[in-house]
Amino acid sequence: MTVSNLFVKINSVNFSIYDNFKNLEWRAEVLSKKGFFITFEGCEGSGKSTQMSLLVKHLKKTDYLGRIIPTREPGGSNISDAIRKLLLNPEYQVAPLAELFLYESNRAQHINDIIKPALKHGKIVICDRYTDSTLAYQGYARGLDLGVIKTLNKIASSNIKPDLTIYLDLPIKIGLKKARKLGKDLYIDGDRIERENISFHKKVRKGFLDIARKEPSRIKTVKVASDIEKTHRDIVTIVEKALKA
Ligand code: TMP
Repeated sequence: MTVSNLFVKINSVNFSIYDNFKNLEWRAEVLSKKGFFITFEGCEGSGKSTQMSLLVKHLKKTDYLGRIIPTREPGGSNISDAIRKLLLNPEYQVAPLAELFLYESNRAQHINDIIKPALKHGKIVICDRYTDSTLAYQGYARGLDLGVIKTLNKIASSNIKPDLTIYLDLPIKIGLKKARKLGKDLYIDGDRIERENISFHKKVRKGFLDIARKEPSRIKTVKVASDIEKTHRDIVTIVEKALKA
């Protein structure tokens, strides 16, 4: 008799002990896997989105297949995508505080709909931009109070912090040229934020570098190489090391 032939009868219904045991075993395995949260950060045209999709493709070819959830901010779920359109449309003039609240409201929805449930189920969430972008853009560049932003980041994110952040660093002039040429989100000449002047974008970069310096164990700075493959390999090394730690 094989184990799979073991049945018990409960209320006239046959239950396979083996199948139910396997099911429980599988559920225990899923629940025992800890979620892992990776974010990508960088200035305009740093190649975040390209590098993120290369990483996702790479990880899907490994044992991590089935656990990868790629997402982005602003965006990530229905209402968040609508907020993204509001935020990036160059026809709107948005007051700095209103801009901050829109990014944070997008985040609250995104955390609730995607990030929190995925991490709870042991997934590896990979997010294009997160709370460090708010500090760099609305704080360092727009000049809003960093302490207030940190508090709002904490509230909107339910205090969910990335386990690992990849910051892609690139000189502003090179990045902006690339971003504007790409016509991201279909706006010719760039979206509302890309159209900000060079000094704004320099402040964003200074912000990211400052934030990265303060949290070296979470934030890994990757210098963007002209060779996309080289940058990809650097990122894979960092991510695989962190996932195995
Ligand atoms: P993208 O580079 O992912 O398309 O991001 C859209 C823009 O939104 C980008 O210019 C950076 C900006 N941004 C902020 O200003 N604050 C934030 O909190 C986030 C997440 C993005």
